[in-house]
Amino acid sequence: MKLNIAVLPGDGIGPEITQQSVKVLKAVADRFEHEFHFEEAAVGAAAIDFWGNPLPDATLELCKNSDAVLFGAIGDPKYDNDPSAKVRPEQGLLKLRKELGLFANIRPVKAYDKLVDRSPLKAENISGADMVIYRELTGGIYFGEKSTSEDGKTASDLCSYSVEEIERIAHLAFKAAQSRNKKLTLVDKANVLETSRLWRKTVTELGKQYDDVQLDFLFVDNAAMQMILNPKQFDVILTENMFGDILSDEASVIGGSIGLLESASVGEKSALFEPIHGSYPQATGKGIANPVASILSAAMLLDHFGLEKEAAVVRKAVEVSIQFNVCTPDINTDNHYTTEKVGDFLESVISDTENHIIN
Ligand code: IPM
Ligand code: MN
Repeated sequence: MKLNIAVLPGDGIGPEITQQSVKVLKAVADRFEHEFHFEEAAVGAAAIDFWGNPLPDATLELCKNSDAVLFGAIGDPKYDNDPSAKVRPEQGLLKLRKELGLFANIRPVKAYDKLVDRSPLKAENISGADMVIYRELTGGIYFGEKSTSEDGKTASDLCSYSVEEIERIAHLAFKAAQSRNKKLTLVDKANVLETSRLWRKTVTELGKQYDDVQLDFLFVDNAAMQMILNPKQFDVILTENMFGDILSDEASVIGGSIGLLESASVGEKSALFEPIHGSYPQATGKGIANPVASILSAAMLLDHFGLEKEAAVVRKAVEVSIQFNVCTPDINTDNHYTTEKVGDFLESVISDTENHIIN
């Protein structure tokens, strides 16, 4: 298969982790005789420094003309501490999601047996946890009208959703549930928010088309607690943009490190693959960032194009690396490997067809 992949390394640890997933994808292309063509473009703080724009036109064009986007990370502390900054790195990612129509962000979360003791949560509570969060990505409070009054004393962010926006992601979440354990939990705040009531009504109605899926509802405050108390109760979680952002960071505690969580953002035409973690500026250039979230995002990319065998090989290689403790310090505090060494190990496991570990 021929694929044109736009690579947007972005800020902080973005470039070093993305380099490892490109390495892994090249090993996959060699092993399975695919042609993957990579082209890099600037986004985020790096792009602001150079072009004054976190999403330069050339970057957007490249993404629109590519089959998929591999995204690193975005954000820089110099903007976080300046609330008056008019141009911010994150706007680049938000605009990209909107322009590419990436309405569904899919975030799988699972506990690795080898790592259950790494989590601050009790091993018996998380062992076997396996869920996927469907987070709406181009609507809600992130994209509603924003304003600050002239005297600077009042600010507002509008949260709005339409039935159509809810239905299109709900279809994907129901289908995912059908292929998994047939349970869908809608997380909302329908006891307070009008938008949440629209979500509940729309999803309940749509659920009639998926009568093999058990649908239930949780308020987001309770869901945040349940995620820690009993994560095994979840199969597919469907939720709006901001709740999904918050719950998925929380869910990363189950896996033992946020450096393990991958995601896919999909729309009608485009698809983007990125780790759920941020740019981790304190770690930049130190070789301590975990590349696995980016590499598993690359596996989701392979799956997206129907390359299931290839994706399975990448996932298996990651499992082998965890099994043999070839891991960065977030999950291996004794004798840790650098970002690059983890990438090299995965590349060699994938390339080594003589080695029957993953065949
Ligand atoms: C994420 C990130 C982004 C978000 C930021 C960087 C805009 O936190 O992908 O989860 O809030 O969506
Ligand atoms: Mn987030």
